[in-house]
Amino acid sequence: MAIPRDFINELVARTDIVDLIDPKVPLKKAGKNHSACCPFHSEKSPSFTVSRDKQFYHCFGCGAHGNVIDFVMEYDRLDFVDAIEELAGQLGLEVPREQGTGKPRDQELSRDLYQLMEEASNFFQNQLRQHTDKQKVLDYLEHRGLSKEVVEHFNIGFAPDGWDGLLSRYRQNQDSQDKLLTAGMVIENDSGKRYDRFRDRLMFPIRDRRGRVIGFGGRVLGEGTPKYLNSPETPIFHKGNELYGLYELKQRHKNPEKVLIVEGYMDVVALAQFDVDYAVASLGTSTTADQFQLLLRSAKEVICCYDGDKAGKAAAWRALETALPLLKPGNQVRFMFLPEGEDPDSLVRKIGKDAFEKMYDEASTLESFLFSNLILIHGTDEGALAKDAISYIEKVQDTILQDVLLKNLAYKLKKNNVLELKRDIFINTNAASNQANNKALKGRGTPLRLAIALLVQHPRLGENLPEQPALKHIQMAGIDLLTLVLDLTRGQVISSAQLLEQFRGDNQFSTLKKLTQWDHQVADENLLQKLKETLVWLNNQYLEQRYQELSMKKNLTKEERLQLSKLISVIKNKA
Ligand code: UTP
Ligand code: MN
Repeated sequence: MAIPRDFINELVARTDIVDLIDPKVPLKKAGKNHSACCPFHSEKSPSFTVSRDKQFYHCFGCGAHGNVIDFVMEYDRLDFVDAIEELAGQLGLEVPREQGTGKPRDQELSRDLYQLMEEASNFFQNQLRQHTDKQKVLDYLEHRGLSKEVVEHFNIGFAPDGWDGLLSRYRQNQDSQDKLLTAGMVIENDSGKRYDRFRDRLMFPIRDRRGRVIGFGGRVLGEGTPKYLNSPETPIFHKGNELYGLYELKQRHKNPEKVLIVEGYMDVVALAQFDVDYAVASLGTSTTADQFQLLLRSAKEVICCYDGDKAGKAAAWRALETALPLLKPGNQVRFMFLPEGEDPDSLVRKIGKDAFEKMYDEASTLESFLFSNLILIHGTDEGALAKDAISYIEKVQDTILQDVLLKNLAYKLKKNNVLELKRDIFINTNAASNQANNKALKGRGTPLRLAIALLVQHPRLGENLPEQPALKHIQMAGIDLLTLVLDLTRGQVISSAQLLEQFRGDNQFSTLKKLTQWDHQVADENLLQKLKETLVWLNNQYLEQRYQELSMKKNLTKEERLQLSKLISVIKNKA
């Protein structure tokens, strides 16, 4: 069903773009416009502007632009229809639907699936009130200590025993039966017989951000396997994109300050019952990048809560690796480990809300968790520690934050600055890569050799060159030497002799020394131009490598898909 054009126009007219963006990305008035650092790419000075006159935003840095609908789609990562719903919701309007001719089939299917899931949820809730077996369920709830209120708040229900409790309600309706199969509520066996997926289980409906039921988790009442049965992936349920409890949380807190990630349905529910009503659960597996993105946009502070055992630590480390690339300045991600044998549900019941919240004080920051873990891995091998730490920190895509983390690392390792840290690691790096570097530098006429030669011979060329973040990701022998030389020459007046001196004792010293004598045959007036061209060439190598990498990879994240489509258009334009 199409949304009437007029309604969309009305939404755009009635939503002021400055008012919409400001709470999410604080804006500063700058002349006629408002500006901020762009939320869609990483930058140090604001190139994101919002015009109240035009009702448009535009970023001079990355080219992102659009109106209120585009902003909601991009920032909240919603599709068009959801963005419309979101804006309408903010104005307290109901989205009208018209019987269009060109209604997309899958949209119509989704509508029916949402409808069926809502009906299923109501059915399960009713069973809790009506079914002849209801007493054993109520006993179980009591045994688990769940209050009537919290059961209602999370719309917890009961799927009765038997093969067709849910299915039989649609006996007259083949179409709905087929859709129950698509929605994962019904299973079909090899001989074509259909039966309810969820039987004799306590049912936790999983809602999307707009409150629509999209899946269920069903727990056995007592012992049995599997303990939890979950909805499979369906056209409306992609578990890596959803968080259990996020909708319920947003109902209580429109702009929550912090969010707690826990493992289980029961944890979310029990915490909420004890007024820790800002917990969500990633659904079964590790927290995905999409889920983190969602959380980091919902709240400044994200506390990840894990068991204190080995498995909990491992899960926390996976979460750290997932979160790193997404972090922006101002985000706080912390890790909290529970006493052995406890989960949030059991613990909050024992110690209560205040003591539970007090535990956050001892949660490690992401930085300290990273560092203490690397110390565990590398012990006293400071070179290896530093190298590994840098490789993690460089996963942070936001350059400002990356900078801060590198500075902190240098400070921790008692270096005067990041440059010194990097230089020391480079010098101490293993012989194998030095050999490869030396070999690469001997290869006549390679762009890499030329760039390094130009820089060691004329360090001033590097003085005003911007950072080249992409170079770090190129797999090419010698590239780390080039980035180091670029770093050593950036922003400073330094002579060839001084530059070379930094490498004395390193086994690349003599190779570099030879490069200072090499006749590169570039005329003086073309030196800078030539160096820049070489850097462009190298950056293109990165684009090419990244393109190859992404195009071979399965299951791209949304970010990766976006990057790939950008890469394709960049590469096409070059061709
Ligand atoms: P746990 O085994 O830690 O259970 O699983 P729990 O949350 O403490 O549940 P209770 O207290 O025993 O009732 C944590 C989460 O892992 C997923 C579920 O999302 C669960 O909430 N899980 C666990 C499954 O999907 N299937 C399972 O069989 C077990
Ligand atoms: Mn539990």
